[in-house]
Amino acid sequence: MCGIVGYVGPECSERALDVIVEGLARLEYRGYDSAGVALVADGEIAWRKKAGKLANLRAEIAEHPEPFSTTGIGHTRWATHGGPTDENAHPHLGGADDKVALIHNGIVENFHVLKQELLAEGVTFRSETDTEVAAQLLARAYAEVGDLTEAMRIVVNRLEGAFTLLAVHADLPGTVVAARRNSPLVIGLGEGENFLGSDVAAFIGHTKQAMEVDQDQIVTITKDAVEVIGFDGTPAQGKRFEVTWDAAQAEKGGHSSFMVKEILEQPAAISDTLLGRTDSTGALVLDEMRIDAERLAAVDKIVIVACGTAFYSGLTAKYGIEHWTRIPCAVELAHEFRYCDPVVDEKTLVVSISQSGETMDTLMAVKHARELGALTISICNTHGATIPRESDAALYTHAGPEIAVASTKAFTAQITACYVLGLYLAQLRGGPHAQEAQEVMRELHEVPAKVETLLQQMDRVREIARFMADTRSVLFLGRHVGYPIALEGALKLKEIAYIHAEGFAAGELKHGPIALIEPGQPVFIVVPSPSTPYHLHDKVVSNIQEIRARGARTLVITEEGDEAVLPFADEVISVPATSTLLAPLLTIVPLQVFAAELAAAKGLDVDQPRNLAKSVTVE
Ligand code: AGP
Repeated sequence: MCGIVGYVGPECSERALDVIVEGLARLEYRGYDSAGVALVADGEIAWRKKAGKLANLRAEIAEHPEPFSTTGIGHTRWATHGGPTDENAHPHLGGADDKVALIHNGIVENFHVLKQELLAEGVTFRSETDTEVAAQLLARAYAEVGDLTEAMRIVVNRLEGAFTLLAVHADLPGTVVAARRNSPLVIGLGEGENFLGSDVAAFIGHTKQAMEVDQDQIVTITKDAVEVIGFDGTPAQGKRFEVTWDAAQAEKGGHSSFMVKEILEQPAAISDTLLGRTDSTGALVLDEMRIDAERLAAVDKIVIVACGTAFYSGLTAKYGIEHWTRIPCAVELAHEFRYCDPVVDEKTLVVSISQSGETMDTLMAVKHARELGALTISICNTHGATIPRESDAALYTHAGPEIAVASTKAFTAQITACYVLGLYLAQLRGGPHAQEAQEVMRELHEVPAKVETLLQQMDRVREIARFMADTRSVLFLGRHVGYPIALEGALKLKEIAYIHAEGFAAGELKHGPIALIEPGQPVFIVVPSPSTPYHLHDKVVSNIQEIRARGARTLVITEEGDEAVLPFADEVISVPATSTLLAPLLTIVPLQVFAAELAAAKGLDVDQPRNLAKSVTVE
């Protein structure tokens, strides 16, 4: 996720550049692939931007020093539209005279339409980003109204999607204007200086006094004043607060670990992954994939290749993909794929799933699939990574950087992206389930709010985890889409709490694993919704009875209001109701919270478990 800094300071110190670069350094934890700054100086915008780490930007500035200035903006970019290059780095300039500089966090969903409009007016673009469209619109609006705040108001009312925007104008030394919708922004209040940041880490070295910015608000800061208005122009009051965190806590948003923070970021990860996938009629559009629709429509087999958590997201998505497309979908561990002599040809779609985009096993599977003539699509969280570059097309998850080794928000974003792809294929093929696509998309859009609600009800799960800190073994059962969730729940516990954990398909119990059940054995059971067809719910309830009768301690994850499980559950963890195929986006949450809390209770390093690396770049 991008990092954003804005600053206006006193004439006497003219240290905007130092403050901004320091703020960007404090936001490095958010992850980024390029960085840039823009200062207002002598009636011009002085800017520098560079792909890669902040060190590259610092070297560029050292080679081409920036003028002294009191006012500026800075950005670390996590690529979404357009790869991580110098040109796509922020700031972006607007106007024929390049007098506007703008930085952006988020995704402008309707940037295609707006870009066409600007191209028709003769505007030229220097990047592939959605952001440059906003910069050009802002320059045009400023030329019309001569007021940067009002110009920003005009622009934000034309944008769809999620965004925090910060802008400066060459003719306005001492002013930074910002706006936010569905993306973070906070104000830092200093003595004779004011700050803007993606979060308080951006300015925590200078002030602990801060102010919240609400949804759909525009902020104008000068060194002595902060003015807030709504997108409709109505004046508003920001809510002041005092930051009580130190710098290290601020990086984690005040949470105990990046993993906890990332679990809490899942509503945004899911909704950002859904952004821009439908047009005004509700039809799915995946223009970003730039793939031949005819070839895609001719696909007669899908193979998903991935490892670890990404593999489990593929296992989960298979149920939806096959249901909506009626195309057979196999899910293979990427490291096994090459060696199983796979039956793959030019009508096979090989979908790789990888958060990092650098997992060597997955990369090798993709290369092998291409050698066999398959069409390859990469579902990836990291723009410009090797796997999407080596694939025919890429569909990016927009979960933002995941720092904890244990994958959480990438998992739910991967399932979301797989579903978007499956629904798009169904729409392309026009089969019996094509009609469902728009309805499912509508339901998917409701999921982030449900996850948010669920996250607020996790106190009991944390209590159970603390109570179980000395447990030596935990089993996980699930059926249908609950089965891969059981596998993923077990993986989370293994990797960060070092507890023996196994996931099983509940129907498999009687074929062997039930022998493991002894008095006191904790077992999580992921129960399908009572509305799931084929009596699946009843069958899983029978499984709970079977293990309870043998002394298991049953921890039941089920839909709110499911009373059938109550007589057999030692603990009931309720999740909001949603349709069967979307339920995994909710049922995984308590298992992630459980693992994180239990690992913390054992005093382990939640973010960096032993023997594991975030990105596995060896075979
Ligand atoms: C999950 O918590 C692990 N960190 C691991 O299983 C991971 O999902 C796997 O190594 C794949 O990584 P990728 O998504 O970056 O390809």
